[in-house]
Amino acid sequence: MMKPQNHQTPQDFWEDLYKRSSADTKGNPSAALARFAVDRHPGTALDLGCARGDDAVWLAKRGWKVIAVDISETVLSYARTNANSQQVGDRIELQRHDLAVSFPENRYDLVSAMFLQAPFDFPRERVLKHAALCLNSGGLFIAATHGSRPSWSWDKSTAPFPNPHQCLKTLGLNMSGWKEIFVGNEDRIATGPEGQKGTVTDTIVCLERR
Ligand SMILES: C[S@@+](CC[C@H](N)C(=O)[O-])C[C@H]1O[C@@H](n2cnc3c(N)ncnc32)[C@H](O)[C@@H]1O
Repeated sequence: MMKPQNHQTPQDFWEDLYKRSSADTKGNPSAALARFAVDRHPGTALDLGCARGDDAVWLAKRGWKVIAVDISETVLSYARTNANSQQVGDRIELQRHDLAVSFPENRYDLVSAMFLQAPFDFPRERVLKHAALCLNSGGLFIAATHGSRPSWSWDKSTAPFPNPHQCLKTLGLNMSGWKEIFVGNEDRIATGPEGQKGTVTDTIVCLERR
């Protein structure tokens, strides 16, 4: 992720980033989503910060009806092309929201927030809690955040990352209404912007609503 300029709004930042990057998709879902959603019976899913739509396409191919949200019109146009080229355009509804301001109100059977992170003040915990409370009973909540800084990150801070249970706590959920499926760290090999490979840590919170 690039460092924002002082004058940029969140939307300008993401538009600028995506206009300067390619529409090419990874073609693979996020590791955490694939791991925890693979055996789930399909219903209605919400993907927050969908970017080029790889996760939405993966879900749609598995029978889910997906509402996929991003702040950037540019990346939503990439996601539309991706969904259509994968023959699942009719199963994915793309919506532009600045989630700090508006939200796709609905009931869901799965909420996925893969690296919904921003180099701005962003009320991530409020947004995630709201999304979690839109789940039907039995619905799955999966959020992943970065738990390490890859060598190619602009962020050279050495501040520690919150541990997975601290991340869960910040959501402010009443845990009597939730079953912990997995709250922990997972390492994986990732590819940086210049094609460089490195191990990164994902901090994952996966819960099922009772
Ligand atoms: C780090 S990227 C992660 C993208 C994708 N989920 C993935 O795992 O590769 C964060 C995404 O969240 C989106 N985003 C950031 N702030 C947002 C906001 N306020 N409202 C909606 N989407 C936002 C960005 O445009 C970007 O596509």
